[in-house]
Amino acid sequence: MSDKQIKFYYKNVLADAIGPEHGITAGQLDELAKQTSPLIPKIKDEITGGKVRYGFLPAAPQIAKSVKKLVKQFKPKCENLVVLGIGGSALGNIALQNALNPYTYNLLDNNRRKGPRLFIFDNVDPAQFSSFLDYITPRLGKTVFNVVSKSGQTAETASQFMIVQKILETRFGKNKLKDRVIATTDLQKGTLRKIANEAGLSTLEVPDGVGGRFSVLSAVGLFSAAMCGINIDQLLAGARDMHACVTCEDFFKNPAAINAAIQYHYYNRGKKISVMMPYSYALYGLADWFRQLWAESLGKRFDREGKTEVFVGPTPVKALGATDQHSQVQLYREGPNDKVFTFLEVQNFGRKLKIPAPPACAPELAYLAKKDMGELLNAEKKATEYALCASNRPCLTILFPKVDAYTVGQFIFLFEATTSFAGALFGINTYDQPAVDLGKQATFALMGKAGDYSKGRSYADFATEIRSKTGVDQRFLV
Ligand code: PA5
Repeated sequence: MSDKQIKFYYKNVLADAIGPEHGITAGQLDELAKQTSPLIPKIKDEITGGKVRYGFLPAAPQIAKSVKKLVKQFKPKCENLVVLGIGGSALGNIALQNALNPYTYNLLDNNRRKGPRLFIFDNVDPAQFSSFLDYITPRLGKTVFNVVSKSGQTAETASQFMIVQKILETRFGKNKLKDRVIATTDLQKGTLRKIANEAGLSTLEVPDGVGGRFSVLSAVGLFSAAMCGINIDQLLAGARDMHACVTCEDFFKNPAAINAAIQYHYYNRGKKISVMMPYSYALYGLADWFRQLWAESLGKRFDREGKTEVFVGPTPVKALGATDQHSQVQLYREGPNDKVFTFLEVQNFGRKLKIPAPPACAPELAYLAKKDMGELLNAEKKATEYALCASNRPCLTILFPKVDAYTVGQFIFLFEATTSFAGALFGINTYDQPAVDLGKQATFALMGKAGDYSKGRSYADFATEIRSKTGVDQRFLV
């Protein structure tokens, strides 16, 4: 394993570290290896053989090629890039930008940024979006919109897009929409494809069979990244190299298999919450991305055959070190022992920031003098890990030699594959999300969609039922 690679560290979940009641004994680890090892060739086949298409993305040069082609076309006249999308169509974009561009990227002068300012909208908050429109409307001449939706029917993305479309058409004329909008959507079908075709928009593809939460390494995540100067070739190279690690048939050398097995072990022993806690602000967006990946993939009512009710799913939680030490760690140490912790630790932050000597009146702060801020942050990570271990709480760590496109690509693929292994261990369908649909359909009904919601039942009738259940009943209003 080269020094460029991220590493998975699991000593502090073992019984030797946190005691036999909460730690994994050597025997239990061997059992997990026995149970998980037969899944390795299956997952390898799934993600390499095309059954689960996210596995192809890192090794699909045509995707990066089509992204770069549009970047070349749109970047020269673009000072602001606005991504409209939600869920899997937004979280990967946010994570990449947060991880791989500086914190103040949008505030930098044009000549110091590596691309346009980036704004990503994944909600329908009228106050937030109006405020943004106030800012961007005078700047539309140098603004490009990337609307990302596989279906094109998602109410949040569709409504944002319809507002933007109207503004652009009013300002520049209907036939000029194509100069300022790129659609990322299904290659052939769906509402956004229809709109894009009619308006002659440039398009990028959401590959068939790739769910939103597994789509960050497709054009969905790559376009905004490449526009903003992120090295997408390195990102994909990191993911490709991780593909080799997560398909390794030796359980003890396969970080995705061990990670999933540990999470599965703890879930079955009452630790149903999985906390991801980066000690790096840059990696915080990846914890958010992981939250969706884990929750939508593993939270399932039925087993894989769709017959037996299982109601499984670890609850993913994100926390930020050191910030949440002052908010959550009291609970994490003395509250119920129902969590597994995954720290993200960065060895080289790429920036040194020396803490100066304290004022003479505060000699008690002298221990900080001349220390690097990164040393302090990493000391806090170790201190928290130590404190959690002292309370017999299981701790994992992903070590980043540094945060760059290569290691972020590795991380993404590691957790996608971990999710595949975890889904196989839980015996569920990792790649569907049937429970999300009812809320989507109910929104359509409440917003007055015409036609039938299901056979013989109109959206209008459905809306009446929803209102009767959710309308305010004065008897319970205090
Ligand atoms: O992961 C998923 O499948 C979801 O989060 C979708 O990405 C999200 O609902 C948006 O769907 P669409 O891309 O069709 O607008």
